[in-house]
Amino acid sequence: MNKSLREKIVEQGNLPAHIAIIMDGNGRWAKANNLPRVAGHVEGINSVREIVQVCGEIGVSYLTLYTFSNENWKRPQKEVSAIMKLLLSTIKKEVGNLNKNNVRLSTIGNINDLPDNSRQGILEGIEVTKNNTGLNLILALNYSSRQELLMAVQRIADKILSGEMNSNQISEAIFSRELYTVDIPDPDLLIRTGGESRISNFLLWQLAYTEFFLTDIHWPDFREEDLLNSIIDYQGRQRRFGQIEEQVSA
Ligand code: IPE
Ligand code: IPE
Ligand code: MG
Repeated sequence: MNKSLREKIVEQGNLPAHIAIIMDGNGRWAKANNLPRVAGHVEGINSVREIVQVCGEIGVSYLTLYTFSNENWKRPQKEVSAIMKLLLSTIKKEVGNLNKNNVRLSTIGNINDLPDNSRQGILEGIEVTKNNTGLNLILALNYSSRQELLMAVQRIADKILSGEMNSNQISEAIFSRELYTVDIPDPDLLIRTGGESRISNFLLWQLAYTEFFLTDIHWPDFREEDLLNSIIDYQGRQRRFGQIEEQVSA
């Protein structure tokens, strides 16, 4: 528990309501510690547990974790199946803890293409936590932002073809409703660990005005203090949304 950093955040007041994290650097963490890549994913789970706990405790409303991208299927089969097994075992193990902490689990991405048992475990986790009212924990699983955008376009095209709507009715709000993130506000803060400076097909639409925090820290080393520091950094920024400084601070 890091009291003084937490107090500073509370005093500042403008907590990000939605934090999204690209949890990168597990493999390099493992390599640096002379361990197999999977050991990095295993250790990364400890960071997930800690970050979820802290977000819940300080009052963050939404936490979206990029857990497995659509492109990650291209990894060696051994690594993919190890990740899928870890996903299942972690959800099974942690669901009691999530409930205790009033966390509500959900997903974005195409979970239909996950292995049956992993998908089943996730659906159970969602069901068991569905009445919780604290932190919304959203796992991006088999997620591709471009696929999500195409899916939205297809759904809207179908509605136009069936006469349900006209093309001139397509607005940002209508479009957003066809995304996985319907009902979820856009992220205020995006954190990417692991030192890369790219989006990797994550939330392309939703990140339009999100503040970015990039850090070299590998995900398994990213813990409470790092999260709190990223929030303090965010709180010190001025979000202008196209306006000028004087308009925003007025
Ligand atoms: C992120 O860490 C975890 C997943 C993408 C599942 P990586 O496994 O990408 O770690 P690096 O980038 O190879 O270090
Ligand atoms: C992004 O990390 C995906 C997740 C964290 C799940 P990657 O390691 O897959 O990203 P790239 O391939 O380096 O862009
Ligand atoms: Mg990576």
